[in-house]
Formats: sequence, C-alpha cells, structure tokens
Amino acid sequence: MALRHLIQTSDLSNDEIRHIFARTANISESDKVLQNKRFITIFFENSTRTLSSFEIAIKNLGGEVIRLDIANSSTAKGESIADTAATLNAMQPHAIITRHKSAGAPNFLTQFTSCPIINGGDGAHAHPTQALLDLYTMATHFGSLDTKDSNVSQQEICLRGLDSMRGKRIAIVGDIKNSRVANSNIALLTRFGVDVTLVAPPHFLYKTRIKTAYNLRKVIDNIDIIMALRTQTERHNTQIYGSLKDYANRFCVTKDLLGNRDIIVLHPGPVHRNIDIDDEILADSRCKILQQVENGVKIRMSVMEFFCGNS
Ligand code: CP
Repeated sequence: MALRHLIQTSDLSNDEIRHIFARTANISESDKVLQNKRFITIFFENSTRTLSSFEIAIKNLGGEVIRLDIANSSTAKGESIADTAATLNAMQPHAIITRHKSAGAPNFLTQFTSCPIINGGDGAHAHPTQALLDLYTMATHFGSLDTKDSNVSQQEICLRGLDSMRGKRIAIVGDIKNSRVANSNIALLTRFGVDVTLVAPPHFLYKTRIKTAYNLRKVIDNIDIIMALRTQTERHNTQIYGSLKDYANRFCVTKDLLGNRDIIVLHPGPVHRNIDIDDEILADSRCKILQQVENGVKIRMSVMEFFCGNS
C-alpha cells in the first residue's frame, strides 16, 4: 500500500471516516494492532490533550512511544525541523506524530521521512484528529438520542448518528481566523451535510462563503450545537480587541444565553473559563468537553490502527 499521511481531514474519504468511526465504537485495549511498533511524537508547540491522547492511544494498542523533548533537543542548537525529522526517521519509527506553530510544517516534513506523518495541529491550518473526535462526539450524542432500543450496538448508534448529522446546525464561535480547529471542522462538517454558521467579531473572521453572524443571541434559536473556541492570543501579532472581558460580554456561552434550550456545547480545549464558556455551562450536562477528551483517545486509537496497524 502507498505511504499515506494524515495532514488534513481531506486525506480521508467519507467511507474511510465511516470505517474509522465504526472501529472507534468498538476498539479496545485488547486490540494490540501496534505491537512491536515504535512511534515518535515531536510537538514543537505546547499540548495537553493531543499529545497525551496520542501517546495513550498508541500504548493502549501495544505500541511504544518515544517523545522528543523539544526543550532539550538539538532544535535549541539550531537544527532545522527538516534535519530533525530526517534524523528521527533514520531510527525507523512506524509513524511520526507532530505539531508545529507554522501552517504547512507537517506536510513539509513528508519530504524527509519514509513513514506516515500524522498532524497533531499546524498553525491555523489543520487539526484533523480534533475534527474527527468532534464529529464523533456529535454523532454518538445524536445517534443515542435517536435510538431507544437498548439492543442496538454502539457501532450502529454512531453510524446512525453520523447519517443524522445532515441538516444539523452548528455555530462555531470565536477566533475563527486563527483556529485550526475551526478550519478542520468547517471542512469536515460540511462534507457530512452539517449547516455551519461562524459567529465572531469581524476581526476574528475571514472572507468566506460560509454563513457568518456577529451576535450569538441572533442565532441561538436556530442551532443544535455550539462549538466555542479559545481566543488564540499567541497567534495575534497585535491586540485586536479591547480586552477578553469585552469579548466575553458578547460571545461567552452562558446559562443566561442558553436557557433550557436543547443545544450541546463543545470546545476543543484549553478553555478560558468565563471568557469562552461560563462556569455554570461548563458544569452542565449539555457541555460535552470531557466526552470529547474521552473520545479523543478512542479516535486516535482508530486513526493509528488505520494508518499503521497490523492488518
Ligand atoms: N484541543 C487541543 O489541541 O488541545 P491541546 O492543545 O491541549 O492538545
């Protein structure tokens, strides 16, 4: 089979995503499909969720992980990322999972490696496994609401849920322009028929054919899902809003805004509490953030099996 990389969600067909979701519903630690395989994680940018969940996913499936400690690596001596990747590739890992602040870095590294490159997030470009776990979280939620029969398998619930995403309405709220999570979700969700509205102040938006709104209250009665985003201050060259408090006054997901509406709330994390989402909604059963984290491990198990597993 030709060498494949996961740089963006379009690297997977809809059928392949269905397959990955079906596996995610069933995959377990007894599936040692990465036994005797070694993987290297190279995260040039900070991470809590993505790095940990990839490493746990690999270990769950019997693989070994070597983490390059960037702060103590030869990057600090001026080694280029191409030379770092080529060097680690010469140690013959079965895949490299990487994150970088520059959009395009994982794709660039594919020139210097002979194993799959899995993108754990590159600049404002893409975060494919985050979008997959987000869609999986939505699909399993709506699939279980639609399925009253307790004999139906998790796999069937998830696939029914995926089919039911067509026509569901999501508001993606916040710093869209600087968000790889927004980019990957827009690309993936629209492929599965989800109706996307981007809600943000004008300086957090770009020119797009996707619907946009400047006020969350104006769309709140016409959505099924809110995906709140963190304001990516590390990607702002200058401060482009008065303060995070000013932003929160208009875009924070609050109890007052949500009321008793049947809307689920997602966030990729890390959350700015009471800026992106208030404490009360973070503790509300409609908030699916920890479910997203839990699903993140399982999705990454299936992704690693798909790209590197013993067939
Ligand atoms: N969602 C996400 O990418 O979180 P981390 O930065 O903690 O990996």
